[in-house]
Amino acid sequence: SISGSSVNLIGTNDYKDTENSDVVIITAGIPRKPGMSRDDLVETNFSIMNELGNAIKEYSPNAFIICVTNPLDAMVWSLKEIAGINKQMIVGMAGILDSARFKFFLSNELSISTDSIQTMVLGGHGDTMVPLLRFTSISGIPLDEFIKKKKVSEEKVKQIVSRTRNGGGEIVALMKNSSAFFSPATSAIEMLESYFFDNKRILPCSAYLEGEYNVNGLCVGVPIIIGKNGVEEIIELELQNSEKDGLNNSIQAVEELVQKCKKLLV
Ligand code: 2OP
Repeated sequence: SISGSSVNLIGTNDYKDTENSDVVIITAGIPRKPGMSRDDLVETNFSIMNELGNAIKEYSPNAFIICVTNPLDAMVWSLKEIAGINKQMIVGMAGILDSARFKFFLSNELSISTDSIQTMVLGGHGDTMVPLLRFTSISGIPLDEFIKKKKVSEEKVKQIVSRTRNGGGEIVALMKNSSAFFSPATSAIEMLESYFFDNKRILPCSAYLEGEYNVNGLCVGVPIIIGKNGVEEIIELELQNSEKDGLNNSIQAVEELVQKCKKLLV
C-alpha cells in the first residue's frame, strides 16, 4: 500500500498455487561461493531444474519461461528438455545483465550516462562470454571513435571486457554467501515486460538455436526479439573471424556442460 499498489501477492511452497501461470521466472538453485565458477553448480541445480521442469509440465505447460539459474545456458537447455517446452517459449536471462555491467563500466570510464550506451554481450553466461566492441556505440557513435579520440584507451577497454566477464564473480567475492540478485531480477523483468506487453524489444538472451550461428540443439546468448509469441526472431549477426572465434569458444564451454546434463537426464 505504501507504493500505491493493489497487486495481490502470495508466497507458497505448493506448485498447485502457480497453476496456469502466464510467465514463470526461475531463480531457484544454489548460488556460488567465492572461488567457485558458475559451472560448479551444475549437478545440484540440474536436480532442482528437474523438479521444476516436471512442475511446469504439469501445471503451466503454456507459460513463457525465463530461467535465471546458473550455469545459465545449460539450465535453460535442461528445463526445455525436462518440461518439453517449445523453443519459442523459453529463454535464459544473462545477456541483459552482462551488457548492463559492460555499459556501467564504460559509462564510468567515459563519464557518459549509461542511457546513451548501447552494447551487446553474446555467448554463454560464463567467463567465456563475448562483449562485442564492434556493436558498442554511444548514442550511435561507434566506440572506436572514442578510442581514436583517446577518450578511452584500448587497454582500458580490454580491462573493462575482462571485468564484465568476471562481474558476477566480483559480486560473489564481496557478498560471500550470495550472488547478485537485484540486477538479475530487473533484467528478467525487462524480458517479461517485452513478452507481456508485446514490446518486441531486441534483447540478448539465451535461446535455443537450431542452425543459427552454426549451433544445433544448444541454448546460447544471442540477440532475439521478444514479443507476445515469445522468441519471435533470432537475429544472426555477421561476425568477423575474431568474434566468431570468441563465440565458438563460448559455445564449446556451453556444450561441455550440456553433455554433463545429458548424462543426468533419466
Ligand atoms: C551474475 O552474473 C548471478 O550469474 C549471475 O551475477
